[in-house]
Amino acid sequence: MIEIPIEKTTQSKLSQVDFNNLVFGSTFTDHMFDMEYRDGKWQNPRIIPYGPIQIEPGMSVLHYGQAIFEGSKAFYTKDGRINVFRMNKNFERLNCSAKRLCIPDIEEDVYYTAIKKLILLEKAWVPKDRGTALYIRPFIFASESFLGVRPSKTYRFMVILCPVGPYYAEGFNPVKLSTSGEYGRAFQGGVGNAKAAANYAISLFPANEAKKQGFTQVVWLDAKEHRYVEEVGTMNLFCYLDDTLITPPLDEGTILPGVTRESVIHIARDMGIPVCERKIAIEELFDAAEKGTLKEIFGSGTAAVISPVGELHHKGQTIKINGGKTGELAQKMFDEITGIQYGEKSDTNNWCHYLD
Ligand SMILES: Cc1ncc(COP(=O)(O)O)c(C=O)c1O
Repeated sequence: MIEIPIEKTTQSKLSQVDFNNLVFGSTFTDHMFDMEYRDGKWQNPRIIPYGPIQIEPGMSVLHYGQAIFEGSKAFYTKDGRINVFRMNKNFERLNCSAKRLCIPDIEEDVYYTAIKKLILLEKAWVPKDRGTALYIRPFIFASESFLGVRPSKTYRFMVILCPVGPYYAEGFNPVKLSTSGEYGRAFQGGVGNAKAAANYAISLFPANEAKKQGFTQVVWLDAKEHRYVEEVGTMNLFCYLDDTLITPPLDEGTILPGVTRESVIHIARDMGIPVCERKIAIEELFDAAEKGTLKEIFGSGTAAVISPVGELHHKGQTIKINGGKTGELAQKMFDEITGIQYGEKSDTNNWCHYLD
């Protein structure tokens, strides 16, 4: 196992945190993991107090955006243990993203040990209430001071942690979504299936426009025909049509292969619900809503877990889904996944990684 020295903070912020009012992503724990890549290898792993890092204005990531990240969660389970949900999936996806962005990959032992050691050090920061978690944000960026479009020769791999409550202000209540209009998020051959920082930068303008019109998020349609639904800001999308759960396929490389998406597919099949990964045209959803065969739409993602969609807007028309209320399947899925995460339901698929 890799050796990771720890430098402890002398000024913990823990006592200042209001664990009853956690706003997603705004509170950071006392320590962070940091490692650097230079001379062709990852080196100098360490855990240090959370705080500012030095960057040079010429740092490659600031100019060319060579950066990737991950997002997973640790849960305080009902028997007082800490569970990182499907940690291996995030590790695998980090290295897939790294490959696409010409970033050197991370060894499994380094990833697991860094996260485990950091969380165990920050044990007191893992919130205990149902609906809360410790969000884990590993990220890698190009750190060489160099102007010119080529892969950086140096990188930083860091992990920071945030105690979090619900992702959306709506909590588990249905969100209102609008399609992406003239904008696109990803194209075949691009980086839509990587967790590249660039994907989020380009989503900001359309998301802001949608917010101004009262929508929570944008549903991305494919960038070529602006016709097929792909995913939502930080969620994959599921449509419960007739008696089948349908989700857009990953084969064109334009959708992030969500860990929660995979869990939903697995659980639905275990429940005996047919699941189909296929393209879904936006007009198919509007037609189905009219015919009454569109039962539910929901998003899936680490941050929100399951997020029911109450309204969908496209080109001046709006459909209400399930009367704007949380659907039965979305609720069941939420209960099942969170039940496993908090150790209340049996983990038959070995999705829980207990740290202690
Ligand atoms: C663009 C995008 N799609 C989907 C997801 C859902 O993925 P996961 O379930 O792994 O969190 C995320 C969140 O990571 C995302 O950023």
